[in-house]
Amino acid sequence: MKDVMGKNISRLRKEQKLTQENLARAVGVSAQAVSKWESGQSYPDIEVLPKLTDILETNIDSLLGHIPGDLKKTLYQAAYLSDDYYWGLQPNDLCYEVLRLVPPGKDTKLLEIGCGEGKDAFFFARNGYNVTAFDIAQSGINKLQRLAEMYHLHINAFRADMLSYRLQEEYDVIYSSRALHHIKPELRKEIFENYKQHTKLNGINAMNVYLRKPFIEPPPEQDDFAYLWESGELLMKYSDWRIKLIEEKIYDCMSSNVKHQHAIDIMIAEKVM
Ligand SMILES: C[S@@+](CC[C@H](N)C(=O)[O-])C[C@H]1O[C@@H](n2cnc3c(N)ncnc32)[C@H](O)[C@@H]1O
Repeated sequence: MKDVMGKNISRLRKEQKLTQENLARAVGVSAQAVSKWESGQSYPDIEVLPKLTDILETNIDSLLGHIPGDLKKTLYQAAYLSDDYYWGLQPNDLCYEVLRLVPPGKDTKLLEIGCGEGKDAFFFARNGYNVTAFDIAQSGINKLQRLAEMYHLHINAFRADMLSYRLQEEYDVIYSSRALHHIKPELRKEIFENYKQHTKLNGINAMNVYLRKPFIEPPPEQDDFAYLWESGELLMKYSDWRIKLIEEKIYDCMSSNVKHQHAIDIMIAEKVM
């Protein structure tokens, strides 16, 4: 918990363009105290929290990496409550590429970010990966847990917010499909550094992201937490890795029963020395 809070303080301080000294002076503590918070060695005292959250333009829940029940319910929380699978159970094509490039060994650790109801996490677990998966929608996580139980699979599935959740352990595969547009552009650098750092050597990051294209209409679902990517932006995040797959596609979608299109960049990158 200290570690998560420290990373959040550090990230928000940088977003506010403050040095540790600036922040320390503003809240009335020493620069050493701020440094200790950020490295996870100590917590801020309770009396400084109101001032600290004001300056960092946040709240205590977010600082602690906690998602309050009534906040940040994405439109998917409601969509996943029905017994049907909103996104079906057919895995995304990218899953087969992962299977081909990093076949599951004795303990091949795979993380899925923004797993929804878990169709891809379920596919990976059935194929022998050691799967961890998270999503902000608890209803999706519940469905994935039920699916895992039904098939006697172990999947470590939990609710978390990709904006504040930072990886603590290393994975062979970090996978995300159609979810990373929920990361605000200004947070992407730090978040992707965390993903890259927590990928094992010769491990891969396999991802696709929705793109902004002037000739494609916005999707029918009104999602207040969506920030489309620029074409090529994902690839640039991995300029120091070996690119195993890169593709840009436009495809038809029928979500919300309205025919529309999405533009998407699909990428697999391998971490090399
Ligand atoms: C288009 S759906 C894709 C779901 C799944 N990856 C799939 O392909 O079926 C996007 C997912 O991102 C999740 N999401 C949105 N904001 C999130 C956040 N801040 N942290 C974690 N998950 C988030 C939504 O709940 C939703 O399940």
